[in-house]
Amino acid sequence: MKTPIKVALTGAAGQIGYALLPRIASGAMFGPDQPVILQLLEAPIEKAMKALEGVAMELDDCAFPLLKGMVLTDDPRVAFAGANWSLLVGAKPRGPGMERADLLQDNGKIFTAQGLVIDEVAAEDARVAVVGNPANTNCMIAASKAKRLPADRFTAMVRLDQNRAQTQLAKKAGVDLTEVSEIFIYGNHSPTMFPAFDNAKIGGKALREVISDRAWLETEFCDTVGKRGAAIIAARGASSAASAANALLDHVHDLMIPGKVHSIAVKSNGAYGFDPEVWAGMPVRTTAPGAYEVIEGYAMDDFAKAKIAVTNKELVEERAMVASLLG
Ligand code: NAD
Ligand code: LMR
Repeated sequence: MKTPIKVALTGAAGQIGYALLPRIASGAMFGPDQPVILQLLEAPIEKAMKALEGVAMELDDCAFPLLKGMVLTDDPRVAFAGANWSLLVGAKPRGPGMERADLLQDNGKIFTAQGLVIDEVAAEDARVAVVGNPANTNCMIAASKAKRLPADRFTAMVRLDQNRAQTQLAKKAGVDLTEVSEIFIYGNHSPTMFPAFDNAKIGGKALREVISDRAWLETEFCDTVGKRGAAIIAARGASSAASAANALLDHVHDLMIPGKVHSIAVKSNGAYGFDPEVWAGMPVRTTAPGAYEVIEGYAMDDFAKAKIAVTNKELVEERAMVASLLG
């Protein structure tokens, strides 16, 4: 039996937490032979902690063989103690008519505090994945607090956008979605994100050989992917949860398997013209469990360069908005 991985999850009694936890505990994130200990953090509010107890009761009632322990707490020092993975989901979601950046003032400070504590008490091999919005900038805030853990341990989720893009391309091409590959998300998890369709492949062929409708790609496709979160809020009255939990499973799962290529938001190294101080969605290749390299060299035409410039500008502006929380 392998040693259990310690997984800290914030916002564990929230919508995403509810959809995510049974899947982590069943082995969907770390594999069918990897036991886990769940360290569940909620806000220090009676109602939230009570709800967390209910979630833990349900996890007990699932009798998952891989679930080797649960810690329920409102103390970040307890939740992140020795954590190998810290999944930072707990934050306010946006409502109708809001942009994710509108959450910065409320949510930014959560990531300041959590970044500090993770750096102090998490495991030597700690990895952090940020979901709470605005995810890229919150990730940057948390990473800026770390003195021990290097910046590349802090990633933010754009996998939901990649999954959305994959499905939209498959529908347009009339193929099974497993035929779509190399569709990567650049930039911010916001409507400015760029799903770089020109580098995608369908059934191993260049996308443009299969989808010739360039106008659709440049407008409807980019808009549908970029505004999907708002469309779900409008339809459901609440932000995406099942698909967000699923994307986080994909994000972490693919970061644990060498050779996987996927989109994550990482500290920019200047590739594709991103400012080196922001966290931007990029194509990466997993090189070892929890480690990755940015895949450079995908060609970008003028349209793609202009889209990347817009999303980069937004990230730089978000960084300026939270300057007082950094470092
Ligand atoms: P939710 O309101 O259902 O749950 C959030 C939970 O976090 C609540 O239970 C709350 O008590 C808890 N919480 C708040 N502050 C906390 C703190 N300091 N420490 C620990 N827990 C805390 O929201 P949700 O639907 O689960 O969404 C969570 C976040 O994820 C939101 O910011 C949402 O916008 C974001 N999100 C991101 C993506 C993405 O693709 N990056 C996708 C979907 C949702
Ligand atoms: C999403 O993309 O569904 C999430 O970021 C939630 C939101 O606010 O759109």
